[in-house]
Amino acid sequence: MHSVFVTGLLPWIDARRLLGPGEWTFEARTARTELVTHAAADLAARLHNVALGGSPITAEFRPALPRPAVRAARTTDARRRRDTSPGFTRPGVRLDEEGRFSLTPEALALELGRRFSGRLVVDATAGAGGNSIGFARGGCRVVAIEQSAARLADARHNARVYGVEGAIEFLHGDALALAPKRAHEDAILFLDPPWGVDWPRAGLGVADLPLLDAALRAGIDRGYHTLVLKLPPSFRASELDGGRPEAVYGFAPGDTRRVKFLLVTRPALR
Ligand SMILES: C[S@@+](CC[C@H](N)C(=O)[O-])C[C@H]1O[C@@H](n2cnc3c(N)ncnc32)[C@H](O)[C@@H]1O
Repeated sequence: MHSVFVTGLLPWIDARRLLGPGEWTFEARTARTELVTHAAADLAARLHNVALGGSPITAEFRPALPRPAVRAARTTDARRRRDTSPGFTRPGVRLDEEGRFSLTPEALALELGRRFSGRLVVDATAGAGGNSIGFARGGCRVVAIEQSAARLADARHNARVYGVEGAIEFLHGDALALAPKRAHEDAILFLDPPWGVDWPRAGLGVADLPLLDAALRAGIDRGYHTLVLKLPPSFRASELDGGRPEAVYGFAPGDTRRVKFLLVTRPALR
């Protein structure tokens, strides 16, 4: 058996889900339990280099884990990661490279759509339509803004594949110019700024995401009801005054205990 001591757990990350099985006791930002070697090594592999909400998660094991167990757990974890929550699941969708790597998993986008059912959602960075389609399928009216004409055409095509083209208005252009024109006191402004493939896993903030930085400086959400941001797991949520952060986990075997992204919701500027 190993005594396990985990630190860096922010109150809103759903630590039980992250940590997995075990008789955990929680205190402030720490958790403790006892685990057999293979379970402890699995946890060590999953938490390796993880930071959530800008807070690095560290795990200490007493006695220390045997190296072969750690190596085996890393190999298992790498294999498991291949089975992650899928993007679009219907055949016939179109995606360029950026559209593919930035696509929100279909089931998570749908869940978010259901949360805002009946509302008008302005998706300021529609990409190939992952979130816009999820919002429309969840019962929202949607305005999809995208600065890449090709990707917006993919989003329209993909919306047709999902039978929701009619629920989405597609606007080609710069969100900084177009989103303020669609402001309404009942509408949600959703922004999923480009993260890049190599976003800093150890922690990043507003200044690292140029579109988010520009949008916040410009007060892009003025006149909306709520601003909803989709951000990398390691994003320092404390930088967003008045924002309510939430960790969104995957649901496939490879990511059910992995935070896929943060959602930060805050009242829009008046
Ligand atoms: C992270 S992706 C969005 C992915 C989308 N949420 C999905 O699930 O399919 C960000 C998108 O923002 C677009 N973008 C970047 N700057 C923009 C701007 N100023 N105005 C509108 N779109 C922009 C990029 O072209 C990219 O397609």
